[in-house]
Amino acid sequence: MSDFTGKLGLVVGVANKRSIAWAIAQATAQRGARLALTYQGRFEEHVNELSQGLGQPPLVLPCDVGSDTDIAAVFARIQEEFGGLDFVVHGAAFAPREELSAPFSQTTREGFRVALDISAYSLIALARHAAPLMEARGGGSVLTLSYLGSDRVFPNYNVMGVAKAALESTVRYLAADLGPKNIRVNAVSAGPIKTLAASGIAGFSNILTVYRDRAPLRRTVDANEVAEAAAFLLSDAGRGVTGEVMMVDAGFHATGM
Ligand SMILES: NC(=O)c1ccc[n+]([C@@H]2O[C@H](COP(=O)([O-])OP(=O)(O)OC[C@H]3O[C@@H](n4cnc5c(N)ncnc54)[C@H](O)[C@@H]3O)[C@@H](O)[C@H]2O)c1
Repeated sequence: MSDFTGKLGLVVGVANKRSIAWAIAQATAQRGARLALTYQGRFEEHVNELSQGLGQPPLVLPCDVGSDTDIAAVFARIQEEFGGLDFVVHGAAFAPREELSAPFSQTTREGFRVALDISAYSLIALARHAAPLMEARGGGSVLTLSYLGSDRVFPNYNVMGVAKAALESTVRYLAADLGPKNIRVNAVSAGPIKTLAASGIAGFSNILTVYRDRAPLRRTVDANEVAEAAAFLLSDAGRGVTGEVMMVDAGFHATGM
C-alpha cells in the first residue's frame, strides 16, 4: 500500500464530495499526508465543510488556476506553512458549456483558449511553482487527470478532447524537464464518472452505458478506484514511473468494438 506518512501535498480541483480530486485527497490523507486544498471561488463553503472530514485539518486556500496571481499566492502560503511539497494533484478542467454540445466545427476561438488555458496550461504553471518546493524535499510527484477523449472521439467531448491531448503531451514534456530534479509527472486517465464536470457534457449518460456494455470488466469505475491508482503514482511506490498516462477505465481503452 502507498504510504504518505510525513508527506506534504497540494490538491487542486475539489468542488464537492463527488470530485475525483476529493477521492484522491481522502486516499492520501488517510495514508498520512498533510494537505493543502484549493477551491474555485463558488465552492468555498463545500470545500471548507468537506475538509473537516479529513483527519488532519488541511490548509484551505482559494485559487483560480486561470490567475497567475492566485497561483503565486497559493505557493507562497505553502512555502510559509509547509516549507516544502512532496506532491501536487491537478484536478481542474473547464470548457464553456456551449462548446460541449455544439458541433465541433463551431468551436469558438475564445472557447478553445479558455479550455486549453484552464485544463492544460494550468498544469505547467502549477508544476513550475511546485518545483522549487519539491527540490527542497529531494523530489516530488505531480499528477493530473485525463480522459480517453484526448485520443478518440466521444460525442460532445469536443474541445475538451483537444485540451486533454494537450494535457497528456504536457505531462511528457514536464516529465522530461523536471525529471533531473527527481520530480515525476504522470496522469491517470479515468473512465467516465458522474461528477459536476461530467454533467456539463451533453449526453454523458450514453457514454456510461457504452462503457458498461463494452468495457472488459463490463462496468464503469468509481472515484475511489481512480484515487488508488493516483495514490500509487503520487507515492514512493511509483518512484520509477514518470511521463505516463495510466488508464483506469475498466479496460475500455483496449477494445476495438
Ligand atoms: N468525471 C469524469 O468522467 C472524468 C473522467 C476522466 C477525467 N476527468 C477529469 O478529472 C478532473 C476532475 O473532474 P471531476 O470529474 O472530478 O469533476 P469536478 O467538477 O468535481 O472537478 C472539476 C474541478 O475543476 C475546477 N475548476 C474548473 N475551472 C477552474 C478554475 N478556473 N480554477 C480552479 N479550478 C477550476 C472546479 O472547481 C472543480 O473542482 C478533470 O480534469 C476532468 O476532466 C473526469
